[in-house]
Amino acid sequence: MRRVRVDSVPVGAKLARTVFSSDGGVLLIQGVELKECYLELLSKRGINEIYIEDDLSEGIEVHDVVNENTRNEAVALVRDIMTGYSFSDAVDVEHVKAIVNRIVDELLANDDILYNLTEIKTVDDYTFKHSVSVCILSIITGIGMGFDTTQLRELGLGAILHDIGKLCIPREILKKPSQLTMEEFEEIKKHTILGYELLKKSGQLCLASSYIALGHHERYDGSGYPFRLKNEEIQIYARIAAVADVYDALTSDRVYRKKLKAHEVYEYITSLGIHHFDPAVVENFVRFVTVYPVGTGVLLNTRERAIVVRNNRKLPTRPLVRVVYDENMKRRTKEIDLSEDTSIFIVDTCEI
Ligand SMILES: [Fe+2]
Repeated sequence: MRRVRVDSVPVGAKLARTVFSSDGGVLLIQGVELKECYLELLSKRGINEIYIEDDLSEGIEVHDVVNENTRNEAVALVRDIMTGYSFSDAVDVEHVKAIVNRIVDELLANDDILYNLTEIKTVDDYTFKHSVSVCILSIITGIGMGFDTTQLRELGLGAILHDIGKLCIPREILKKPSQLTMEEFEEIKKHTILGYELLKKSGQLCLASSYIALGHHERYDGSGYPFRLKNEEIQIYARIAAVADVYDALTSDRVYRKKLKAHEVYEYITSLGIHHFDPAVVENFVRFVTVYPVGTGVLLNTRERAIVVRNNRKLPTRPLVRVVYDENMKRRTKEIDLSEDTSIFIVDTCEI
């Protein structure tokens, strides 16, 4: 399978992964042949990318680091909470704890974690899916930093609820499609303090988990908010969630801007590491995140076009690729392990 833009789907391709609507219902089921009317429906629902199965990508598997059902259940739970008007009940927290513990268990049972961008978000379901991705990315980083199970659970729980304070922000500001005014931005910034207070009041989370809501917009160089804390003044869980939050936000389409390519975000995170983020966190984060996710189309310096088949942990910019078109756009099929052939390298991602 491979990931393509909806407007670039070739005739006869089959859908490789079920597409869900923003309210969690099935929109198109895996295996269906993609007709023009289906693609129009996807575009109308704000779905810009899908996974397809075609002869170019036959045999290429895209794996998520957690089970698809676990991720979907977590997204549904966050949707229930974030579309509710209050976060009062302890039952909610018990459910969230249970799903976070499952995510921790699945990740710990995974011998070779490599995070591929698998989630496809729309503008409407962004918040829910983003919360779950931030949770998963934070736990993965925590594993890299040697945290024990209790710490990973605390980290995951705080990370999945990091934006809970947005429940207290007027919806018209949160959903505003144009640029925010200074006053509106000041209002949005309050979601950190409000979220922290909400979680503390619930009495269901330890203080360290609740601090993630408060500190995930603080920046290592003191340029963040709400308190402009610096370096180790920012609690470690919040320093981890900050990287996960920015990475996932930049790799997603938003109302006010298009997403960046995965490798551009990777470069952004690593170059800003010394300013905005804790360098030790960034170091662990990038160990587990792929630069070129499996199923991505890439352009090589030979002007050949290829699809990423498998990543190479030691050389993250040099995956195994399948060349599908030569420099004259003639069909080819050969696989090149870029970790072995150093004369060939990826210059950009591309649609195939
Ligand atoms: Fe936030």
